[in-house]
Amino acid sequence: MKKRKVIIDCDPGIDDSLAIMLALRSPELEVMGITIVCGNSPVEMGFENAKKVLWQMGRLDVPVYIGADRPVKREYVNALDTHGADGLGESFLPQVPGYRQTVSAVEFLACTLKREKVSVIALGPMTNLAELIQKDKEAFLQIDELISMGGSYKSHGNCSPVAEYNYWCDPDAAALVYETMYAGGKHIHMVGLDVTREIVLTPTILEYICRLDEEMGAFIQKITKFYFDFHWNWEHIIGCVINDPLAVAYFLDRNICEGFDAFVQVETQGISIGQTVVDAMNFYRRKANARVLTKTDAKSFFVLFLSRILGIEAEKLDLLEDIV
Ligand code: BDR
Ligand code: CA
Repeated sequence: MKKRKVIIDCDPGIDDSLAIMLALRSPELEVMGITIVCGNSPVEMGFENAKKVLWQMGRLDVPVYIGADRPVKREYVNALDTHGADGLGESFLPQVPGYRQTVSAVEFLACTLKREKVSVIALGPMTNLAELIQKDKEAFLQIDELISMGGSYKSHGNCSPVAEYNYWCDPDAAALVYETMYAGGKHIHMVGLDVTREIVLTPTILEYICRLDEEMGAFIQKITKFYFDFHWNWEHIIGCVINDPLAVAYFLDRNICEGFDAFVQVETQGISIGQTVVDAMNFYRRKANARVLTKTDAKSFFVLFLSRILGIEAEKLDLLEDIV
């Protein structure tokens, strides 16, 4: 099988970690590297967390590159209230000693994209990508496919009534990425809250994971306990919304989400800062720069997610039928 090459740009982050795990266990993908941006956690913490996940997966061979430590223009606001003091659900897993790359995330992105056909799955604020545009727009426009977890179309926001965290954290970066995609005649795949809110890891699904694989279950339990509490306190949900793995799942299987093409802009000012303004009615008569995803099939997602991270054939996950 010819593998698709991807770079995962992320801010781990609990759900980023689950997304990395899914990507690493998917034989269709070759993860060329992980680039870290400040978002959920400050960039150094995100770097340490990525190594912890790679260690857990036995994949310390995957290089991790440190990227932007603050948004393009605005002050940085982390999401440690959501992801815990260590950015990994207060699991306080031991640090993984190891290398530090000599090149930055942006240098790695620029030189890899110019050399080969690579897609980018962006799971955090898009500051690294904005810096790439500023440094080497040609390399940015060579991204094969760009999938971004971020924004929302009709769903309410998670940072303000209208804004999702990744775009709210660095709205200028997100706006520049969408503008550049438009100017370059390309599409970004917007995996926003409309679809990710459907992906709830419930206590029952987690228990099922533990029954099938004690070690993997214990790891996921450790990193999601804090996230469960957060969701109960803030959203009155039993379980937790795992946004980022859906972006990876959609990259693997386009049938997991449905949507439509539209021209999208990101607001950078005022009370709606970070909002994705989706021109679904084509008021502006502009060509689409995004595929906006609006529907997903949570069951198909969990079949893919569990079968990959547990290494079990999809047909054997019969119980999922009743618990998702
Ligand atoms: C996004 O923000 C972060 O909390 C998650 O990792 C996800 O990427 C959801 O708004
Ligand atoms: Ca993230």
